[in-house]
Amino acid sequence: MTDNLWTELERHQPKPLVELFASDDNRVDNMTIEQSGLRFDLSKTHLDEAALASFSKLSQNMQIDAAKTALFSGAVINVTEGRAAEHPAERGNGDADAVAHARALQDRMRSLVEAIDAGFMGDIRHILHIGIGGSALGPKLLIDALGRDSARYDVKVVSNIDGAALTEAVKGMDPHKTIVAVASKTFTTTETLLNATSAMEWMTDGGVADPYAQFVALTAYPEKAIEWGIDESRILPFNEAVGGRYSLWCSIGFPVALGLGWAVYQELLEGASAMDRHFRNAPVMENAPMMAAFADLYYAQTKACQTRAVFAYDERLRLLPDYLQQLEMESNGKSVTAGGAPLGRNSAPVTWGGVGTDAQHAVFQLLHQGTHLIPVEFIASKTPGHDFDTAHHETLLVNCFAQGAALMAGQSSDDPARNYVGNRPSTTILLDDVTASTVGALIAFYEHRTFVNAVLLGINPFDQFGVELGKQIAKRISDNGAIGFDPSTTALIEAALGDV
Ligand code: F6P
Repeated sequence: MTDNLWTELERHQPKPLVELFASDDNRVDNMTIEQSGLRFDLSKTHLDEAALASFSKLSQNMQIDAAKTALFSGAVINVTEGRAAEHPAERGNGDADAVAHARALQDRMRSLVEAIDAGFMGDIRHILHIGIGGSALGPKLLIDALGRDSARYDVKVVSNIDGAALTEAVKGMDPHKTIVAVASKTFTTTETLLNATSAMEWMTDGGVADPYAQFVALTAYPEKAIEWGIDESRILPFNEAVGGRYSLWCSIGFPVALGLGWAVYQELLEGASAMDRHFRNAPVMENAPMMAAFADLYYAQTKACQTRAVFAYDERLRLLPDYLQQLEMESNGKSVTAGGAPLGRNSAPVTWGGVGTDAQHAVFQLLHQGTHLIPVEFIASKTPGHDFDTAHHETLLVNCFAQGAALMAGQSSDDPARNYVGNRPSTTILLDDVTASTVGALIAFYEHRTFVNAVLLGINPFDQFGVELGKQIAKRISDNGAIGFDPSTTALIEAALGDV
């Protein structure tokens, strides 16, 4: 039955986009969803009544309602790791015990934020947040998006093992006035622990008598942080059923809560919570994460699109594509189903993107005239994030909307080099403004969209075993050097590292 629906979708012959509009005066209304200060316009995709009916049936067949219930009730849906996925509980939506537990841990974080504000850790001016992947990308995005002129502390996020990253991050920081937040769900990640050790050295070299007293740990395994030397009073634990790339809402969000203030952090959670409720309750055709996932699957599965491009037409959201790369590719870049059977379909496409209008002058040529069909997503805000001439924001938005229109309408020319075939799909997400609330809702929207993609493909989006092999081999090289590798790897190790 499910296979038949995919076949039906593969055989679906879409009308050109301009015809879809010509044949339906209400297309914009029908394909636009407004929720939590965000407007999702999916009208410039090839989804029509027939395709939507097939996706609707497919989601019933794949038991999306049961999957949602399982997600929001704390059932063990991360089957390969035997865990629930309790990030919605951090926003107040989930199993009652998980919600109460999340609240208690958030209260603990709030107390630490208030104590730091009150001077309990001295005269603090800087926060050095050390983490990687899901323990860094969310805080980095939010500080960049929301902390441009209202940050209460100077916050830097460092992730890469390359010492140049840490060097850059601590430039201008006074070690006596810095809190180091070591963020690691597992508290075993090589990059994070080495950066933390080097940050400790930087403090000692800077004359801090008790550097440990300026370290805070954000982790699901507090015992590991204690073993590392951090005092229990400065450890902010979180539920191990919150996955790394879904962990912004728990103590991994500490630099947001401290750097931007508790009220901002609360607003972020409330924005996400409203999106949870929308996802849970809105009917399929009015459900933003569901409809966006249908568009994703339509192109990745039935049109073999191997990539999806996301362009933030707002400087404040310039880190969103990086954030989405981990969320979407680490969640759904898999070749087997949750039950271990071959997927038999395409996994998630490659997520990539950039910031408008810069990207127009770099990569849009290929989007307009290349041979690949690439669904594009535009994200913009009605309200500017600066006080310069309104011409800046108007021109930014004009360009954003012009690109979507050009991709769709194209323009024919007798000169092949100047011909635009058009009929290229895009979606646009328009925010009222870039606030903690809208960004919270936007990120939760992407989480749920990723979840729907996974459910309809039969994937478990909450594990990430694909990243382990490289880690094991790196350890083997560190421990044993160039022993037992292929000739290329051996030669590289010997050329650059000698005897490791
Ligand atoms: O290597 C992948 C990964 O496990 C991500 O899933 C995670 O967000 C990141 O590493 C960091 O892990 P941790 O928070 O345990 O340090």
